Amino acid sequence: QTADSLYVINNFAQKFFIDQLFNTENGQAYALSYLRERGFNEEIIRKFQIGYNPDSRDTLTKALLANQFNPELLPKTGLVSQRNGNELVDNYRGRIIFPIHNNTGKTIGFGARVIGKADRAPKYINTPENEIYVKSKILYGSYFARTAIDKADECLLVEGYTDVVSLHQAGIENVVASGGTSLTIDQLRLIKKYTNNLTIIYDGDSAGVKAALRGLDMALEESLNVKLVLIPDNEDPDSYVNKVGASAFNDFVATSKKDFVLFQLEVMLKEAGNDVTKKSNVVNQVAETLSKISRAEDFTKQQDYIRQCAGILRIDESGLTNLVNKYKRDKI
Ligand code: UTP
Ligand code: MN
Ligand code: MN
Ligand code: MN
Ligand code: MN
Repeated sequence: QTADSLYVINNFAQKFFIDQLFNTENGQAYALSYLRERGFNEEIIRKFQIGYNPDSRDTLTKALLANQFNPELLPKTGLVSQRNGNELVDNYRGRIIFPIHNNTGKTIGFGARVIGKADRAPKYINTPENEIYVKSKILYGSYFARTAIDKADECLLVEGYTDVVSLHQAGIENVVASGGTSLTIDQLRLIKKYTNNLTIIYDGDSAGVKAALRGLDMALEESLNVKLVLIPDNEDPDSYVNKVGASAFNDFVATSKKDFVLFQLEVMLKEAGNDVTKKSNVVNQVAETLSKISRAEDFTKQQDYIRQCAGILRIDESGLTNLVNKYKRDKI
C-alpha cells in the first residue's frame, strides 16, 4: 500500500533529521545553535521531533536508497526530487525540519525552514499533497494539543509552526496552527470534535486576519464560538511570548480577546464611515453572517448577537431579526 510505505519513509526520514541535528557537527553548528538562539530548549525540540537536513546534495537520498525504499515513491514524500530525468537529490537542503503529525502521532509530512533570516525564498517548503498528507484536513500540532484543548475547552489557533512550538514551551498547549492559509471546513470540524470555543491569535496587520474573517461564516455554521486576539507591533505569538514571557502573554490574550462577530462588525463600520449606502451594506452583511447561526441549540446565542449588533448599528432589533430570517430562508 502506498500510504503505508509513505508512513515508513517519513518515519525513517524524521529519525534521520533528528540524528543530523543533534549528532553531527554541522547540525549542531548551524541548526541547533539557530534553534537555541531563537529560544527553543532541547526538551521542546525533542518533543516536536524537530530535525535538520544537511546542506548537501543527497545525504538523505543516499540513506533512503541504502534502506531499499522504492525510488519511484520517494518524490511523493517531497523529501527528494527528481533531477535530469531520474536522478534523485535532497529537497530540503540546509533546512530545519518540522515534522507534521496526524492525530495518532504518525509523521505525515514536513515543513522545512531556511536557517536564519529568510532571504532565501521560499522560507518554508512544505510536503506536497499525497495519499497521507492532505493540507486542508490538517492542523499542525493537533496531536500534541488534543488533551489540553479538551481540558481548557478552548482551542487557540495561530499561523505558524514556530508559534505552536513556542507557546507549548511557555506552557500553553491548547494550540494548533493553520499553516498561514484560510481555514477550511475540515479543519473547523477537527476543532469542533474537541471544543466549541475557538480563539484565533494572529498578528494584527497580517493578511491572515482577512483570511480568518472569510472563515467566520463557516465557523458559525459549525456552531463554533469564535474569538480573536491580535498580536501588536509586527510580532507574532512566537516572538511575542519570547519577548514578554508566558504570564504576560496569557494576560494579554485574556484582556484583548474579542468576539469575532462583533469585531467584524466594528471593522466594517469603520470602513463604511458616514456613507449611508455602505452602512446599509454592513447591516445586510451582519444579517447574513448571523443567519449562519442556525442550529437549534444556538438560538439564544443568535438572539444575543442580534441584540448586541442592533445596538451597535443603532437599528431596530426586530427589523434585524426579520432580515436575519430572510437570509436564513434564502439559503434554503
Ligand atoms: P510566517 O511568515 O508568519 O512564518 O508564516 P513563521 O511561522 O512566523 O515562521 P518563523 O517564525 O519566521 O520561523 C506563517 C506560516 O505560513 C506558512 C508556514 O506554515 C508558516 O509557519 N508558510 C510561510 C509557508 O508555508 N511557506 C512560506 O514560505 C511562509
Ligand atoms: Mn505572518
Ligand atoms: Mn509568523
Ligand atoms: Mn515567527
Ligand atoms: Mn458572507
